[in-house]
Amino acid sequence: MKKTCIFFAILVLAVFLSNCTNKSDEYIDPRGTDYAGSESCIDCHKTQYDMALQSSHFKATAPAILGNVLGDFDKKDHVFIYDKNTKLVMEQRNDSLYQVLYKNGKEVEAHRFEIVFGTKHAQTSVYWRENNTYELPVSYYSSIKGWATSPGFPADKPYFDRMVMKDCYSCHASNISSRNVGQKSTEKTFMSMDVEDIIDPKTIVYGIDCERCHGPAKAHVEFHVKNPDVKVANSITSYKSLNREQKLDACALCHAGNDGMKLKSRFDFKPGNSLSDFYRETRSITDTAKFDVHGNQFRLMSQSKCFINSEKMDCITCHNPHENASKNIASYSKICMSCHQGLKHTETTLKTMSGSLLATNCVECHMPKKSSGAIKFQLSNSKQLSNYILRTHKIGIYPANQK
Ligand code: HEC
Ligand code: HEC
Ligand code: HEC
Ligand code: HEC
Ligand code: HEC
Ligand code: HEC
Ligand code: HEC
Repeated sequence: MKKTCIFFAILVLAVFLSNCTNKSDEYIDPRGTDYAGSESCIDCHKTQYDMALQSSHFKATAPAILGNVLGDFDKKDHVFIYDKNTKLVMEQRNDSLYQVLYKNGKEVEAHRFEIVFGTKHAQTSVYWRENNTYELPVSYYSSIKGWATSPGFPADKPYFDRMVMKDCYSCHASNISSRNVGQKSTEKTFMSMDVEDIIDPKTIVYGIDCERCHGPAKAHVEFHVKNPDVKVANSITSYKSLNREQKLDACALCHAGNDGMKLKSRFDFKPGNSLSDFYRETRSITDTAKFDVHGNQFRLMSQSKCFINSEKMDCITCHNPHENASKNIASYSKICMSCHQGLKHTETTLKTMSGSLLATNCVECHMPKKSSGAIKFQLSNSKQLSNYILRTHKIGIYPANQK
């Protein structure tokens, strides 16, 4: 009798538990029921998935857990000094990371790293205050392998009040929902800045995931799970069917700067849409217009003769959308040469470099590194602004000394 009781108890428990796990297995995407989530792509697109998982796109935003945060904590260069009485210290407390402000040796405030932005050249982080995220005053920069002021932040006093709004997430994440509260105007436009947004952390989809670039894919997944013999893609936009402008717009959405006029939320963009319905650049693309090397690869590239005269160059000409930019600069030379066979440099140019070096270094001379005009930073105890350096996408002929 006792045995059967225990048996039934275990059975009931087992059924109960299996129900639970079934329920939690069912993925619910904050963007709605049209979305399947990146993990659902693994079974059929492992190659793309494995690549994309390691990419900067996937890590463009991430929870600030140990392992995702760059920089020194509790040792070496983990202190930023504002003045002789005021310092900011990067500290690990249990499993969390903090920027802690000390005045005259006493702790005044401490803010926890909650979300990180970026992994490659720089990483900036935000903390939650009430229902919003705020940028931490000190960021990590790869060029100096250390901490310095977050872009635009002062080096002589700490500042904790820069709200990081939905706009940043619209290029660095796949979703975030906010609600307007206490707006001063009755108009509920996307642009009105006097309204206060409340962000719901449960709605964040970190990083730039598969469906951010490919559009909602639940129907695609369901179709192919049901029809494993069908080898032709169903219910998904094919990039191959898009024209050049549509392909470019799918990248330019986030790679064409942010100074123009916003018409619609970037989150609503789907491949095939036209960027001009979402964002309008107010400056014209003359070759003298200055676009920043940070965040505006599209307009710089648009100014170069390769782009204009080839009538076919787009971002995919040189980049695999599932991978980072290649670290091997020589690999780009092959792509250059696919359009520039029979290239002849003048004697003067040939004298500056051996033929074999010249052949593998196209990018070094024709897409040189330039300082960003938009992003500068200051080191601890320094009045000087340091430059943020990226390669220009304006392919052209540059004087040798301007590199
Ligand atoms: C059950 C299998 C299956 C799953 C799961 C699946 N796909 Fe596919 N997908 C296919 C097949 C089959 C094709 C057509 C053959 C090919 O291109 O690999 C395809 C093609 C594609 C294409 C190329 C379309 C084209 O014609 O250029 C994209 C993009 C794509 N899938 C995205 C996704 C995304 C994003 C997910 C996850 C949300 C996903 N797929 C999940 C089976 C699947
Ligand atoms: C939703 C916004 C968004 C879209 C769409 C987008 N990107 Fe990006 N891309 C970013 C952000 C943000 C970064 C910086 C990520 C980081 O380093 O944290 C980035 C980084 C990159 C990098 C550098 C990665 C590295 O570490 O080397 C390349 C190359 C790139 N994007 C190409 C593309 C191409 C090509 C497309 C179109 C197929 C595209 N991007 C579409 C936002 C976007
Ligand atoms: C930054 C935008 C971006 C992201 C993120 C992205 N893709 Fe793609 N994907 C593209 C573009 C652009 C193409 C077209 C490439 C081409 O035509 O050469 C493509 C092509 C594909 C194809 C067709 C086969 C191929 O490799 O060309 C599949 C399948 C695919 N993507 C699946 C995925 C899956 C699965 C994920 C997530 C793990 C993903 N993509 C993430 C932009 C993206
Ligand atoms: C219009 C789209 C866009 C917006 C809006 C935007 N970013 Fe970016 N951001 C990018 C792109 C693209 C890159 C990477 C390439 C580059 O620097 O040109 C980038 C790079 C970064 C990096 C360096 C990442 C790395 O790995 O090198 C950080 C940090 C960053 N952004 C933070 C922010 C913050 C914080 C905001 C809001 C104040 C913001 N971004 C708004 C598109 C955007
Ligand atoms: C899709 C084809 C294509 C690719 C790829 C390409 N180019 Fe070009 N490039 C052109 C065309 C077309 C012109 C214009 C030639 C003309 O009008 O005489 C051009 C012009 C140039 C010029 C002269 C620019 C000027 O302002 O006078 C340079 C330099 C150049 N390319 C270098 C490169 C380098 C370096 C790469 C690789 C990073 C590259 N190109 C990749 C097609 C291409
Ligand atoms: C002619 C080849 C070419 C084309 C076309 C091209 N890129 Fe690049 N891209 C490069 C090279 C070269 C680098 C530098 C890699 C490095 O220095 O590690 C690069 C780097 C980048 C980076 C990383 C920035 C950095 O310094 O780490 C981003 C983001 C990027 N490209 C986006 C784009 C976008 C978006 C497009 C389309 C508008 C595009 N690229 C078109 C060659 C190209
Ligand atoms: C040492 C720097 C350097 C390197 C490396 C280099 N170039 Fe050039 N390139 C120049 C200069 C300077 C000019 C203008 C004077 C001349 O034509 O020699 C030029 C001119 C050009 C032109 C325009 C020629 C014309 O007739 O209008 C093209 C196209 C070009 N380069 C492509 C390339 C490609 C592709 C590579 C890589 C295989 C490359 N360059 C490597 C410095 C360089």
